[in-house]
Amino acid sequence: MTIVSQNEHKRLAGEKAIDFVEDGMIVGVGTGSTVAYFIDALARIKDRIAGAVSSSEQSTERLRRHGIEVMDLNATGSLSLYVDGADECDPHKRLIKGGGAALTREKIIAEASRKFVCIIDPIKQVPVLGKFPLPVEVVPMARSLVAREILAMTGGQPVWRDGVTTDNGNWILDVHNLSIVDPVGLERELNQIPGVVSVGLFARRPADVVIIGGEPPQVL
Ligand code: A5P
Repeated sequence: MTIVSQNEHKRLAGEKAIDFVEDGMIVGVGTGSTVAYFIDALARIKDRIAGAVSSSEQSTERLRRHGIEVMDLNATGSLSLYVDGADECDPHKRLIKGGGAALTREKIIAEASRKFVCIIDPIKQVPVLGKFPLPVEVVPMARSLVAREILAMTGGQPVWRDGVTTDNGNWILDVHNLSIVDPVGLERELNQIPGVVSVGLFARRPADVVIIGGEPPQVL
């Protein structure tokens, strides 16, 4: 598959997600290249929505550039809809996310939303999560501690994403060589390690709807 056709699949998925936007909504908006297509499509109907809650500085910047008001989740309360991409998606709509380092805010908005629509290109579909290195956001002083504990707990190889600081001022470990047969259990276990801010496994709160970009897009 060429880069061009993967981008086209992302565009088709992002634009299809507009079907879930209703008049007057405050829309939760994720992060990444697929979401960028969704934001561009949202801009075309911006007069129909009340605003957006954003999961990253990157998405905030794009939303504002289009003239879409970005609101504070503390002020909006729960949201009806959250639209975001993913790095991997299994048949139960459980996800790996955080390739763009925005996992913590993404997880907060997913939890606050009644419907989570995940937009992906077809190569993100996997039978078992774990081929994509699992991002874990950590408090900087706990980086080595968390890495040692993850190695002992899972056998996976944590690699520091050197040079990347999250929007929350933290660091990312990417855990390689995992085959995640129990995503809910692993998410719970990793969340227990002191210094872990959040884990890029979206299993306890999976997506509700998955849109796979294509001609036509598939809605699962
Ligand atoms: C951001 O931290 C991620 O969770 C993204 O949602 C994920 O990496 C998908 O990104 P793309 O849409 O760019 O593939």
